[in-house]
Formats: sequence, C-alpha cells, structure tokens
Amino acid sequence: MIANLPFSQACENNKQAILAVLEKELVGHSHVLEVGSGTGQHSVYFAPRLAHLQWQTSDVSNNHQVIQAWHDSYPAPNLHPPLAFDLMTDTMSTSKSNQPYDAIFTANTLHIIAWHLVERLFELVGEALPLDGKLIIYGPFNEHGRYTSASNQSFDLSLRQRDPNSGIRHKEDVVALAKKHDLTLKNEYQLPANNQILVFKK
Ligand SMILES: C[S@@+](CC[C@H](N)C(=O)[O-])C[C@H]1O[C@@H](n2cnc3c(N)ncnc32)[C@H](O)[C@@H]1O
Repeated sequence: MIANLPFSQACENNKQAILAVLEKELVGHSHVLEVGSGTGQHSVYFAPRLAHLQWQTSDVSNNHQVIQAWHDSYPAPNLHPPLAFDLMTDTMSTSKSNQPYDAIFTANTLHIIAWHLVERLFELVGEALPLDGKLIIYGPFNEHGRYTSASNQSFDLSLRQRDPNSGIRHKEDVVALAKKHDLTLKNEYQLPANNQILVFKK
C-alpha cells in the first residue's frame, strides 16, 4: 500500500475471497457498475484481475477524491473514475455512462444505508439491468430472523447506536425485495468472518 492513502480495513478483508466469486459470476459480463465504492480499494484490486470487463466506480461526491487517489496510485486501463451516484437523489441514467451495465456490484453498503435507500437501490437496479444481468452484493446478513454470529450481533448494535436507520439486513427481506424488481436469487456464498455474497439475476 502506498503511504498516506486513506485506508479501509473492511475493504481489504476478504478481497481475495470476493474476487474468486466475481471471477466465476462475471464470466461473459462486460460492464460493471460498483455502487458505494468507498475508498476505491476494491476497484483497484478487482479491475486489473477482471481484465475482460470495464469497472465503473461510483459513490457520493464526497468520496471521489479518495477513490481517484487510489486510482492514480494503482491505474488500470479498465478502471473508470468515479461517477457521482447518490441513492438519495440520482437515477442510473443520471450516472452518465454511455454503456449499459450488465452487472452491478456493491460491498458493505446495505447495512449502512437506510432501508428506504436499499429499496431505492433495488428499484434502480431492476430498471437498469438487462435480462440475465446480475446484482452481486457482499456483506453480513441475518438469516431466519437471527444473527449468524456473535460478532455480527455486536457489529449490528454498534451500527444502530451510531445511526438507528442502519443495521444488518435480513436475507429474507432482501430476497423478497429483489423479487419485486424481477431479480431472483441465483447463488449465495459463505465468506470468511460471517459475510456472504448474494447473486441476483434479472
Ligand atoms: C461501509 S462503506 C463501503 C465502502 C466499500 N464498498 C467497502 O466495501 O469498503 C459504505 C458506502 O456506502 C456509500 N453510501 C452511503 N450512502 C449512500 C448513498 N445515499 N448513495 C450511494 N452511496 C452511499 C458510502 O459513501 C460508502 O462508500
């Protein structure tokens, strides 16, 4: 890592395991939109290792300087500068890409944003993806109405203390929401440290 770049440990955790899933799930896909790129660490790791596709980063504008700093330090020909994309105000068409996306990836976002923004995300993704397009979501989820680990329980409590609208989502709620927007759960992967990847297909 280059010194002085803002750094997220959460983004580093499991990046090899996430990549292994993306390598499998993104065969035949060509244009990925990443929602909530954060520092950009995922994008600089994934894009050069998924050279067959274009990786479009996005986030709220406040994060763009940091994402661009990571891109400047680790450039790749298929890695694109961040688009301004705020679920509060934007639509996929205001995210100004000429190419339609055939996959959308988001990591560690559903437990941060309020539930009405999770609903908005699925609405926009459902509209934007073509048939057979994929939505790939990484993060912690509850299952059968329960936490999947004690560490997820304490993480959830700390999230809710900071922001009562945040918190680990129930997988069943997310799957039901996806269905409303013609997105079907096709694959799920257990990742280390009680995280999961959910793959939805339109
Ligand atoms: C915990 S960070 C995850 C960052 C990165 N994907 C990772 O895995 O480390 C949550 C991300 O959600 C983004 N976010 C929060 N509210 C948002 C909104 N209204 N629209 C789009 N992104 C939002 C934040 O800016 C941040 O980048």
